[in-house]
Formats: sequence, structure tokens, C-alpha cells
Amino acid sequence: MDERIVQSEAESEELSFESSLRPQQLHQYIGQSKVKENLQVFIEAARMRQETLDHVLLYGPPGLGKTTLAAIIANEMGVNIRTTSGPAIERPGDLAAILTALEPGDVLFIDEIHRLPRTVEEVLYPAMEDYCLDIVIGKGPQARSVRLDLPPFTLVGATTRAGSLSAPLRDRFGVLSRLEYYTEEQLKDIVVRTAQILQTDLEDVAALEIARRSRGTPRIANRLLRRVRDFAQVKGTGDVTVELAHYSLELMQVDRLGLDHIDHKLLKGIIEKFRGGPVGVETIAASIGEESSTIEDVYEPYLLQIGFLQRTPRGRIATASAYEHFGMEVPPL
Ligand code: ADE
Repeated sequence: MDERIVQSEAESEELSFESSLRPQQLHQYIGQSKVKENLQVFIEAARMRQETLDHVLLYGPPGLGKTTLAAIIANEMGVNIRTTSGPAIERPGDLAAILTALEPGDVLFIDEIHRLPRTVEEVLYPAMEDYCLDIVIGKGPQARSVRLDLPPFTLVGATTRAGSLSAPLRDRFGVLSRLEYYTEEQLKDIVVRTAQILQTDLEDVAALEIARRSRGTPRIANRLLRRVRDFAQVKGTGDVTVELAHYSLELMQVDRLGLDHIDHKLLKGIIEKFRGGPVGVETIAASIGEESSTIEDVYEPYLLQIGFLQRTPRGRIATASAYEHFGMEVPPL
């Protein structure tokens, strides 16, 4: 099969260093207790009944562990996972090729499922509902529809934008799980776990400092840990001390709340060029040279969460907390 469209577990494992850090079982997965408790029950029930797990939609900001959870679900169910993404499946035929190659019970993971083309989505409906494919053979008056049976499977969809999913697609998931930003404590535990896997000595206070600056996001926490570890290796003894963590985080321009130079550009742009807003996201994007979808999916969610940004019908507004963070005077109302 076309490797661009689908990767087997072994292939993606090889491609991604990140995956070697990932927990394999639900009990190793830190945080997201509500999601975990529910999944544990649904997985156990499906296993007891020897059924395929119902389709699962995981949604929430990027980097919170949707892909990791999908792999854990497959692992806990004792089945294979096939991984693909919405934009990679361009035509109905691409999806048909993936679905017909599944083994009974397999997990099909579709990342960025909100980006599936509409024509592909329509093929997915009967596949999800009745495990079958309706294929049209021929054209014009000769065209006829053939129904093809598929092995039962579990679709695990991931999206940063549950709101962009069409209602018919959303309604076909039996389990909807929303991932939340992690607490500092949880991120600290994740960083400590990763440091053990990387065989790096990490001071407790350094772990907490990295956790604090990771915007509630394990992917960022693990990335910062690896970069700080690089600094430790080249500039220090190899051990990650709190001094070394501070030093490297400053050099990487990650501030004490974890905001990086793009967050700064975004907030300062609104404050300095648009008098704090309201200003439309397209206008902000053009003024700072970033894609508006990147701003909306990657940067804004955390700035909204910490109350630095407000979304109003007239556009984005920088809040008093944002001004204060930069030591700027809050303008009178
Ligand atoms: N690595 C990345 N995310 C994780 C999580 N939620 N738990 C444990 N390790 C992780």
C-alpha cells in the first residue's frame, strides 16, 4: 500500500524518536484521568464481550497526547494500529485501500480528521456504521453500486477542532473524549519519566522549571527537556541542574510562563499595532507573518486558557494580564 497514506506501527516507530518515549499502557499514561477512567471501562467491556471497541474521537489542543492514546487503545485491545491523517487521504479510493487492508479488530487512527475531504467522509459513514463500503463501478447509465464487507474495526479520530467536524461524522463516534491541558505537577512527572528513559540525571527543581514553561503540553515539555539536556551535555557535566535549566530556557527565549517569541510577537502585535484589539485573526496573521490556522490551532488556545487573550465577535483582545506580563501600562477602558 501507498506508504504516504498509511504507516504501520513498525514503520512509524522507526520514523519517530518521540514514539520511544511514549507510554504503551493506560496505567503509564500520566494525567487526563477522566478520559483514562472512561476508556479503561470501555476497553475492558469490549474485551469481555469479545467485541470491537466503538469508534473514539479524541479532541483538544495539539501536543496533549492524542496519538499516544490511540496507540495505547490499540495496545490495550491487543490489536494493530494503522495510522494516517485527514489530508493524506485525498480520494475515496485511498480510504477504500486502507479499510480493505485492515485485520479484524484493528484500530485505524486518522489524525486531523477534520481535514478529510467531504467525498472521503461520505465513504466513511457506512464503513463506521455497518462495516461496509459502497463502491460505484462504471460511469453514466452503466454505473452500479457494489457493497463490500469490511472487517470490524475501531476508528480513532483526532482533531484540534471538534467544531469543524461535520455533524454526521461526529455523531458516528460512540466515545468522545476531550483532552485538557496538563497541570505543572503532571508535566513534571512526565519530564521525570522521560529523563529516566533518556538516562539523564534531572534535578527535581529543574523538572518543575521545565514543567512550568511547557504551556500545559507534554510535547513541549519533552522537547524542552531534550534541548536542556543538549545544553547540559555541551555546556555542563551532562546533568540537568536547575541553574542549567534556567540558563538554557533563557537562551531558547522561553519565558517564565513558557511563552516563546511567536507568542510574544502575537501579543505585542495586538498591543502595539492594534491598540490591544479587537482585531481579526487574519489581520494579526498578516501583520506578524504567520498562518492564521497556526495561530488558531497552536498559539491561541493556550493564550486564551491563561487569560492573556479574549475572543470576541469583533476580534481578539489582549487582556490586562498580557500587558502586565510585558511590563506595559494597561490602557484605561
Ligand atoms: N509522554 C507524553 N505524554 C505523556 C503522558 N500523558 N503520560 C506519560 N508520558 C507521556
